[in-house]
Parts: sequence; structure tokens; C-alpha cells
Amino acid sequence: MASAEGPSYWLGNETLKVPAALFALNRKRVCDRLRNNHNVPKEAVVLLQGGEETNRYCTDTGVLFRQESFFHWAFGVIESGCYGAIDVETGKSILFVPKLPESYAVWMGTIHPPEHFKKKYAVDEVHYACDIAKVLSAKSPSILLTLRGVNTDSGSVCREASFEGISKFSVNNTLLHPEIVECRVFKTDMELEVLRYTNRISSEAHKEVMKTAKVGMTEYELESVFLHYCYARGGMRHTSYTCICGSGDNSSVLHYGHAGAPNDKILEDGDMCLFDMGGEYYCYSSDITCSFPANGKFTADQRAVYEAVLKSSRAVMNAVKPGVSWPDMHRLADRINLEELTKAGILKGNVEDMIKAHMGAVFMPHGLGHFLGIDVHDVGGYPEGTDRIDLPGLKSLRTARTLQERMVLTIEPGIYFIDHVLDQALANPAQACFINDDVLRRFRGFGGVRIEDDIAVTASGVELLTCVPRTVEEIESFMAESKDEGKTLSKVILSQGL
Ligand code: GLY
Ligand code: MN
Ligand code: MN
Repeated sequence: MASAEGPSYWLGNETLKVPAALFALNRKRVCDRLRNNHNVPKEAVVLLQGGEETNRYCTDTGVLFRQESFFHWAFGVIESGCYGAIDVETGKSILFVPKLPESYAVWMGTIHPPEHFKKKYAVDEVHYACDIAKVLSAKSPSILLTLRGVNTDSGSVCREASFEGISKFSVNNTLLHPEIVECRVFKTDMELEVLRYTNRISSEAHKEVMKTAKVGMTEYELESVFLHYCYARGGMRHTSYTCICGSGDNSSVLHYGHAGAPNDKILEDGDMCLFDMGGEYYCYSSDITCSFPANGKFTADQRAVYEAVLKSSRAVMNAVKPGVSWPDMHRLADRINLEELTKAGILKGNVEDMIKAHMGAVFMPHGLGHFLGIDVHDVGGYPEGTDRIDLPGLKSLRTARTLQERMVLTIEPGIYFIDHVLDQALANPAQACFINDDVLRRFRGFGGVRIEDDIAVTASGVELLTCVPRTVEEIESFMAESKDEGKTLSKVILSQGL
């Protein structure tokens, strides 16, 4: 996909070349939207501010910098402390880079002149950030369009561009956010290519983990296998989120793996594993979950729960296409989960009645999936006019939109046995009446199963970006083969006296 000419981001070896043209197209798209949807005055200028480096608390120990997502989307700049301006009418771009102190040359490396960044990022002009007021005044923009708006997942407001002297300009901070967010929802061909890459590398890394997994290992050893593969093979220095590597009961903890629960349990015989991990390349994400038995062989109960979730996943994948409502896909997954839990004997009664009693959320308290892009929970889930559905399960959806071509989402149904949620359901007569508690007791401590794939919506359906063993048979034979390979290898090593 990389254009033969023009600069690109590349980390050598087999890593992906990402052309700077990806960001030029993004800049053009947001300008087009602003011009088409608003009566933007002539000589309006979009102004974005990039991220700043931070240190650990009050120390001088730096935290590895990762670019702010909107700024990355528009400029693809890896350095901190920058601003970017785009003339809405002409599309001309200006990058403002920090003027670095001499000590930088001693501690951090070469101080590059502005010309270096002009070539590196294929922008029209580069100036020092300390000159921003002067440079912008000379252009006499009619208005600066800055970015201010709420992230609908976190509830946090993004940081609006600001510099000394901005008060002398006329500023509008409401127009830009909904337009740039909407652009980010729809992925260009060049962006899809990057997401295919993040998925390919992360899928391969998940397979390395499944090959390596053995009873007696710690969860974090497997986390490290994933991280190593993504970085060594894929140039992915960051992951898209903290690795969730739950085994046994930990696999029911939806966001396990945080500092207070740091993937430190030993895998035991009979444990189900739920590993939710995604590598990030040049700020583009992936988000993949593989669930498998620690010992490589599903028990009857593990198979029943796993195949229920797989059935939900595949039903959704087959139904997704432009025009389909995402909440309806969540409802579809809930329905299949409930039907299958009834077949397994955990639930009893009429599935329609269970749905009315919101039983789906007892076993899948999270939403079916979310947009994926530069952020793992990518922006744009709730534009004006799309409201959150205030019902159990559905209220956790990160988008309630109707699907359209070029949206990229996760499909991640799950079934979890979470004591806290089960106890609440059993204490509620409207829900307890559907539960066979004697059967359910067998599943206490089982943990959970999630199957998470990343997809792009196409004109007629989906493109599946993730590629890992998914059926019970595929997982069992993949894990058995890799164990056999391991045995053969150790025999060779022993026979050769190595
Ligand atoms: N890994 C977080 C999520 O699945 O949304
Ligand atoms: Mn995930
Ligand atoms: Mn996800």
C-alpha cells in the first residue's frame, strides 16, 4: 500500500511501512467535512496540540511517550511537545516542533532542524512551537478551530490546544470535535492496512502463547511471551491496553491484570485461561481474546460454555453488515448465550421470558464490542442523536450505532461465572426462577470464556482481521501439535547431547 514516493514510518525487518500519506488523507478528510457541513469562514485554521512527555510522579524518570490519539490521526508525529495547524480551505499543513535545549544533544541525541521534520512528516511548513503566535498571526486566520469534547467511554474531556498569545485570536472549540471524531470512525484503506497488520502480529503472538502455555507456568510468563513476540517480530513497543491473562477463576474478572491483580497466578490443571491482549503499532490497536484450557484439553463443561460463546460470536459475525444495529447484535449474542446455557442445564424456562428479565447481563455484563482504531475503545460511539440504552448489559455498550462500511469493531461475546453477579441474580426472584442452582454450583470458580475478534464492516458483511484457532478441535489440535513439537525438539536436543 505504501506509495513508492513519500516518507513512511518503518521499523525495519518484516514490520509494516506506513506512508505519511495516510495522515495527509486524514487531514484532507477533516477539512472536507468542515467545509461541507459548516459555514466555516474563509481562512479558518484547525489547530491541534500533541501530547507532552511526563515523568514518574515527582522524579526525573521519564514515562515512555505515546502520542495523543487525535494528533496522531492527523499528523503521525512520534515526538512530544508539538502543535499542528491545517488551513481548512487549502489543506496546507504546518507542524510546530519544540526548540530543544543544547543539553538535549548530550542526553537524548541529535537536535534536528525544522527541515528534517518537514521531510519526515511530509507537511508544508515546520516552525518552532515557541514561535506559534507569531507564525499564526502572519497567516491572519479568521478563526482557530480547536478540539474540545467528551470521550464517551471515559467521560473525560480532551485537552484543547493552547499557547501563549492565543487570546489574541478568535477561537471556536465546538465545531471540530464531532467532525474529526466522525472521520476517525470510518477507516481509510491505508488505516485498514495498519489494522490488518496489528491483528496479524497479535494473532501470531496469541498463537505463541497457546503453544507455550503449560500447567505450572505463571500467567505473567505467558504475558511476557505475547509482549516479546509483538515487540521483537512486530516492532510493537506498546500494547493497546494492559494485558488480561486470567486463569481459573481469574478468567471471570473482566479487566484482570491491573497492578493490584498482576497476572501472577499459577496455571492449574483443569483451569480455563482467558487471555485478552493486543499489540499496538504506530498508535494503531488490536484487541483479541483467546480462551483455552490450561492443559490443552476441554472438559465437557468447558466445551459447553466455549461452544456457546463461539456460536454467539459466529452468529453475530454472519449477521453484521451495513444497516444492522449494534444493540441488535448484542441482543442476538445474549439470546444465543441464554439458549445454550439452557441446553447445558444451567438455566431453565422460556428464553423470551429470560430476555425480559435481563438474564443475558447476568452472564455477559459487558457490551458485545466496540469501535477499534487508534484507541482500543475508539471514539465516536455516541454522536449527538445516539443515546445509550439504559438497560442491564446494553448500557455497557460503547456504541449503539447502526453499522456502516469501514467501521472497525470488536466482536467479543462472553459467558462468565462471577460470584457477585450470580449471588445478586439468585437473590432476585425475577431472575432466580430461571437458574438451576444445583447445576450452577458446579460452575462456581469456573471463570469465564470470551472470544474476541476484530472485524471491518464491508459493503456486504465483514472482513475478519483476527486469525487464531477458534473451534474446540482447532484449539486442542493446535495445542497438542505444539506440545509434540516441543517433545520432538527436546528428544533431538537430548539425543545430540546438547
Ligand atoms: N481489552 C479490553 C476490551 O476487550 O475491551
Ligand atoms: Mn479485549
Ligand atoms: Mn475489546
